[in-house]
Amino acid sequence: PIVTVLNGPNLNLLGTREPAVYGTATLADVERLCASTCAELGLRLEFAQSNSEGGLVDLVQACRGRSAGLVLNAAGYTHTSVALRDAVVAAELPMVEVHLSNVHAREEFRRHSYLSDIASGVIVGCGVLGYQFALQRIAALVLPARP
Ligand code: DQA
Repeated sequence: PIVTVLNGPNLNLLGTREPAVYGTATLADVERLCASTCAELGLRLEFAQSNSEGGLVDLVQACRGRSAGLVLNAAGYTHTSVALRDAVVAAELPMVEVHLSNVHAREEFRRHSYLSDIASGVIVGCGVLGYQFALQRIAALVLPARP
């Protein structure tokens, strides 16, 4: 099964952007971590990033009928985008929401997410490990249970 990992705006700057908040790993490091985790779990990884809302909607639409699960760090659009939420609902696949930082310990506007109530899990404040946890959750949901 394919699992898609999507990253929203400014996550292309990971590693150099506010390292005290987001850590020093780059998005390429995150992709490598996801690739090795997927290899261990028996999932096929598709990994992408977009700075635009429409770009993310297109990427989620491309998952329809194709990907078994979605790991989504929608970054700033988490807190604003009804369109992205609608795309995830339309895709009819399990989605796990990830944030590197603990969004509940920051500005008030980061505490609301348009994605959390439709997510099969929400992971915040675990840094890049959060992507690994999310992939494990997707694997548990989509792979047949091992005896
Ligand atoms: C983020 C948290 C968001 O509030 C923020 O806009 C981001 C990154 C995170 O991974 O911690 O860009 O999604």
